[in-house]
Amino acid sequence: MADSTLVITRDDALVLDANDDLAHFRGRFHIPNPGVVYLDGNSLGMPPKRTIERLREVYEDDWATGLIRSWDHWIDYPQRVGDVLAPLIGAAPGEVVVHDTTTMNVYQLVHAAIALRPGRRTIAISADDFPTDRYVVDGIANATGHRVQHGFDDLGDVAVCVRSVIDYRTAELVDVAAETARAHAAGALVVWDLSHAVGAIEIDLHACGVQLAIGCSYKFLNGGPGAPAWTYVAAELQPVIEQPIWGWFATVDQFAMGPTFQPRPDIARVLLGTPSILALAAAEVGIALSAEAGMGHIHAKGRSLTWFAIELCDQFGLPTPTPRDPDRRGNHVAIAVPNAKAIVQELAGRGIIFDFREPDIIRAGCSPLTTRFTDVYDGIAAVAGLATR
Ligand SMILES: Cc1ncc(COP(=O)(O)O)c(C=O)c1O
Repeated sequence: MADSTLVITRDDALVLDANDDLAHFRGRFHIPNPGVVYLDGNSLGMPPKRTIERLREVYEDDWATGLIRSWDHWIDYPQRVGDVLAPLIGAAPGEVVVHDTTTMNVYQLVHAAIALRPGRRTIAISADDFPTDRYVVDGIANATGHRVQHGFDDLGDVAVCVRSVIDYRTAELVDVAAETARAHAAGALVVWDLSHAVGAIEIDLHACGVQLAIGCSYKFLNGGPGAPAWTYVAAELQPVIEQPIWGWFATVDQFAMGPTFQPRPDIARVLLGTPSILALAAAEVGIALSAEAGMGHIHAKGRSLTWFAIELCDQFGLPTPTPRDPDRRGNHVAIAVPNAKAIVQELAGRGIIFDFREPDIIRAGCSPLTTRFTDVYDGIAAVAGLATR
């Protein structure tokens, strides 16, 4: 297929599947109907089979048997699941905690960052970033009197940049190390949103100099619908960040029921209130599956799947804004066609599941633990059959 005059066939996809070192991981997931072509794991990952057993264990062994006594080992579950996640993003143990939602976690870290840069009055974000990030930034600016700047060219007055590692529409991957260094050199902090990167690409937050990051666990980490999100704070910032919601899970000596909030010196200072133990148990299973497969292998397969998808787009004449350079893209491929929304609806009815993003983007999510090359072939061939050009 290096020769672009060759035609890619479904048999090529079958050969790629047969040679896929991660193919066996698909058997660890519940596949509702073998005929379904699922290309939306970038929105909601598939359910690991182990999740249902793990939920039963927590229900029977912990909740039903131990009752309230199970809080003896539930109490630090957000930190322990964080330690399972940490190696997937190049963080150290004690730097990640799994809790609450991505939206909440952006809010907390942006507040913490502006408090660390009191002389600066601007928050920078891309006008194209994911809506919740933009809305949270607008809301904070509205409440605090900060100015919102769209874009990152001039960082002179910027306290914090809020940035997605991977663009949710095009899958373009930012040079995290270079952009973090540039912001820090200009005196700004950066809160990175890894929602489309975690469990998808190999990333080393320490090597990139990242100090603050958040992300979800329901996409490539297969943590379940509404699975808790996570926060990463580099060890050196943990004792100095001040987050805006002072809940009892973030205070020292929680059960002393003291008169005032005293923030813990560690990552747990970003916690709020009682965590959802069942949701954490499900998230842990998904996170542990990615850890078992290894981010190097996952990223390598993600590159192959997205390369295959882009080659197919070219073959079928489907325009894609997704970068061709594998170092600059995440694990989905965007197809831009005028009737994108109608195509996604029509194909969903046939069991071929993509998602649609305004104004004209079909996203083909390539989840290395569950997506087959044949899924990519079948999905993109089906889009080609319906696309208006
Ligand atoms: C980049 C990004 N940030 C945040 C979110 C969603 O935030 P939450 O999990 O709080 O709904 C998404 C959801 O797709 C996302 O893609």
